[in-house]
Amino acid sequence: MLVETTSNKPYALIIHGGAGGRGWVPPEGTVPGAENRAKDIADGLRAAYLAGETVLTAGGSALDAVCAAVCSLEDSPVFNAGRGAGLTQAGTVEHDAAVMTGAGLGGAVAVSRHVRHPVLYARKVMEESPSVLLADPPDSYATAWGLELVPNDWFITDYTRAHLTAIQAGNIDKPKHGTVGAVALDSSGKLAAATSTGGFGGKPVARVGDTPILGAGTWAADGVAAVSGTGHGEAFIQGAVAHDIAARIKYLGSPLPIAVQTTLDLEVAARDSLGGIIALDPDGRGAIVWNSDLCLAAWRDGDQIRIMAP
Ligand code: GLY
Repeated sequence: MLVETTSNKPYALIIHGGAGGRGWVPPEGTVPGAENRAKDIADGLRAAYLAGETVLTAGGSALDAVCAAVCSLEDSPVFNAGRGAGLTQAGTVEHDAAVMTGAGLGGAVAVSRHVRHPVLYARKVMEESPSVLLADPPDSYATAWGLELVPNDWFITDYTRAHLTAIQAGNIDKPKHGTVGAVALDSSGKLAAATSTGGFGGKPVARVGDTPILGAGTWAADGVAAVSGTGHGEAFIQGAVAHDIAARIKYLGSPLPIAVQTTLDLEVAARDSLGGIIALDPDGRGAIVWNSDLCLAAWRDGDQIRIMAP
């Protein structure tokens, strides 16, 4: 499926809250509030879109906008990022996140356990360290960079605990990947992308997906595209998906929607994998593509904010 977007503003923003099935429904009465999940997802997407757009309407940068949107999604317990992220086989939370600016700077963290907003950790790696990717970083880095730390179980919800129990009991056959992300074009023509995830419920301890691998789940290049992916991370890594899209645009001259659809087909679907991608070009044209049942997303269409939710 493909949705094309255009912007009549001097900026553009698309966010996603993961691609996947209609979602696991816990047995009735086992997870308080689970019956409101569809509405909570739609509300969470709208709030995150507005958090990012508020930055852009005030003339802020694409980087600030994608971070604001992703922080909002990380704080919502209904998305697989930040609080509410899927649990490892050990019942713990391990986050991956990345940011990239169109100027070509990037930062990422893998197996982050205590930072409330992993996307801000990724940004600090980009801005405060000589590194691009830190894996299983000690809390002392986060403390030195002034980031908020929380206990690992702060990220765990009744829903994610019940989800892991269902996986371990064999009541869910396929792992459910989910991720959140944002791509933005600011009024000075700069692009940025950010992505954040818990990977998938029941993932092996220490498994790292595509999200923090620049060029796989996250990529931005001014004049070309900003890209954020969600889905089977292993396929996104093997297909260098986010970079492949930018390369199609840069070297083949492909229009963004064709580049995004072609890469999804050839690098994700062809690996018998599911996923979704959001992308923006420097003119504010966007594309949302997915080959799963659903892709959770939000974007502006004229005066309306469009929400794609269950
Ligand atoms: N796309 C998220 C992951 O596989 O980790």
